[in-house]
Amino acid sequence: MFVLGIETSCDDTAAAVVEHGPRPPRLVSSIVAVQDVHREFGGVVPELASRAHLELLPGAVERALAEAELDFDDIDGIAVTRAPGLLGALLVGVSYAKALAVALEKPFVGVNHIEAHLLAPLLEGAVFEFPAVGAVVSGGHSEIFLVHALGAYTLIGTTRDDAIGEAFDKAAKLLGLGFPGGPVVDRLAAVGDAGRHPLPRGMSGSGDLDLSYSGLKAATRRLIEGPAGALLRAAPESDEAAQLRADICASFQVAAVDPLLSKLETAARRHGARSLVVGGGVACNSRLREGLAGIGTRLGIPAFRPSPALCADNAAMIALVGGFRLARGERDGLDLEPVPSLDESGMLSVKAPA
Ligand code: KG4
Ligand code: ZN
Repeated sequence: MFVLGIETSCDDTAAAVVEHGPRPPRLVSSIVAVQDVHREFGGVVPELASRAHLELLPGAVERALAEAELDFDDIDGIAVTRAPGLLGALLVGVSYAKALAVALEKPFVGVNHIEAHLLAPLLEGAVFEFPAVGAVVSGGHSEIFLVHALGAYTLIGTTRDDAIGEAFDKAAKLLGLGFPGGPVVDRLAAVGDAGRHPLPRGMSGSGDLDLSYSGLKAATRRLIEGPAGALLRAAPESDEAAQLRADICASFQVAAVDPLLSKLETAARRHGARSLVVGGGVACNSRLREGLAGIGTRLGIPAFRPSPALCADNAAMIALVGGFRLARGERDGLDLEPVPSLDESGMLSVKAPA
């Protein structure tokens, strides 16, 4: 069964084909059209995102099919992100999927974007042992889940304010490093000294599994705009300024990633996790990857994180999760509506097994 996946929840327009069948799901093709329009604003502009999805989606779907060497008629079902995300952006994908389903007379299902991030490693041969502890970390999300089984999740930790990826993007913006900032901060951190300008680690001793990034964001701003950052304004092109930027990136990265790692390890111990998984754009982060592997080794459990292309927003993970639903005979009707918030997305209302 070939499933066409469609993803338009934020600022990436994506289409992909995944084959579901007797064997584990197989990624056949995956196209991500990155919207450049947001770069100059240093963040995602919802109105521009919706318009860009409208322009880019038909071409992305055609390329995904062409790469898969399939025609529209070869598709057995359609899966589309319905929650959570930007309402206008989600609406473009959901409307397109409905129109395609009607035109092709094929079934379609809505998929939860966060569940898809969690399950993405299944496209690369991962085998989860339950219960698992999973985190989704991106520009809009910082959530820790207990995964009881495929489809049964309990939210056990979340950010009290901003998302971790948003904090990375903010730090990069303050340093004049462009958008999205995570990859640049990660790269510069590798040559920086984290000890020179330490930054606060939010919620480290809170005892619960929650996170917080607003304090780190504010402290990073104070550091850069204060006396320590004077060099950045006086001689931004100098080698010394470049080293200072790298040092700030290094201390920011430690302060952003280490609390997440420590909460993940606490969660895994507390809930007797038998595997770990991290997804979302920030899962590309090198410190997070190394730290995650360390937790896995200490606890003697497998720690999964997708390859970079499957960490960031993509439609393959949507076709993956949608395909599971279609294979169970589930269908959505033309009354399916996009849902912006995770709380109302239905993912968290699934009853955990006793
Ligand atoms: O999942 P994603 O592609 O889109 C959503 O936000 O849903 O995640 C994008 C986020 C951005 O905030 C970006 O800065 C961050 O992931 N990111 C990283 C890295 N690569 C991407 N953050 C830290 N380190 C990275 N290597
Ligand atoms: Zn995402």
